[in-house]
Amino acid sequence: MAGAGTALGSRVGGSGDTTMSRVHLLATGGTIAGRAGSGVEPGYRAGEVAVESLIDAVPGLRALATLRGEQVAQVGSQDMDDGLWLRLAARVNALFAGDEADGIVITHGTDTVEETGYFLHLVVRSARPVVLTGAMRPATSLSPDGPLNLYNAVAVAADPEAHGRGAIVVLNDDLHCARDVTKSSTTDVQTFISPGPGLLGTARYGRIRYFRQPTHRHSAASGFSVDGLERLPRVDILYAHAHMPPDLVRASVANGARGIIVAGMGNGNVSTEAAGALSEAAEAGVVVVRSTRVVSGDVGRNIEMDDDTLGFVAADQLNPQKSRVLLQLCLARGMDRLAVQEAFYRH
Ligand code: SIN
Repeated sequence: MAGAGTALGSRVGGSGDTTMSRVHLLATGGTIAGRAGSGVEPGYRAGEVAVESLIDAVPGLRALATLRGEQVAQVGSQDMDDGLWLRLAARVNALFAGDEADGIVITHGTDTVEETGYFLHLVVRSARPVVLTGAMRPATSLSPDGPLNLYNAVAVAADPEAHGRGAIVVLNDDLHCARDVTKSSTTDVQTFISPGPGLLGTARYGRIRYFRQPTHRHSAASGFSVDGLERLPRVDILYAHAHMPPDLVRASVANGARGIIVAGMGNGNVSTEAAGALSEAAEAGVVVVRSTRVVSGDVGRNIEMDDDTLGFVAADQLNPQKSRVLLQLCLARGMDRLAVQEAFYRH
């Protein structure tokens, strides 16, 4: 649905007749389902409001699409784990494979929505839209942002033009590619940004505009699959700082990490001491990826650190939390370091 003024949530059937799109809502918790003691209390409990109440709280939502709701979890997104990701991916793939939905909306906490979104961007096999949304204010707030976010998310999921764009994060009237989006403010309603590639589009009261296509491989073309996976390999993120000691690297390896992401300084730098420990880890078969703690810009191979000699992978454009998702999937496929480097360029 490119322009303003077109009917929302319609799809054209094989016979040319127009029917409502079917949108399936998978609720996982987060602030969008949060409850506070009053409308002006900053403290709240995440994930308390059930999916039916979320749907009922949005006037006009059922006019956008034929809706079905399903409670998958009721957690704050800090408690999203690999098991829940695999369950979500399996459910989304099954709904599409069984032709039970034209689009899917996942309500999710904003803290880790970028990670879940990127995971689904890589492992959902269908071109149909997967849209993730959440809220910065709880459902009981004096002025909650969740209802309009949900309205816009359903409009995107119902939109035939959203097909082929992978997983889309919709918040505060903006559409972000799940690969590019990141949370930039702990408290502001306008928190999500897509540094570098920029917004995928906008949503104004359900009127959707797209600015671009995703730039990297995703969905069925990603080459990744969760079929047969019961868990993901352990990958740790280590946050670098001036005079970073080697100890945490050794602790990660001793505790079974098969991959380490360094949230490096600047262009993915680490101290000489930490670089030594990381190189030892790489020598022992742990895949070490240099990302950055800086919010935008690339980490280039062999630019400031000699990756060829040290045995590292450069994260290119992915931030540490996205790098972790991609490395887990690479390791689950048994990729070696060179194949992992290629994956970071392509995905
Ligand atoms: C969470 O991520 O579950 C809490 C924060 C939020 O949803 O905004």
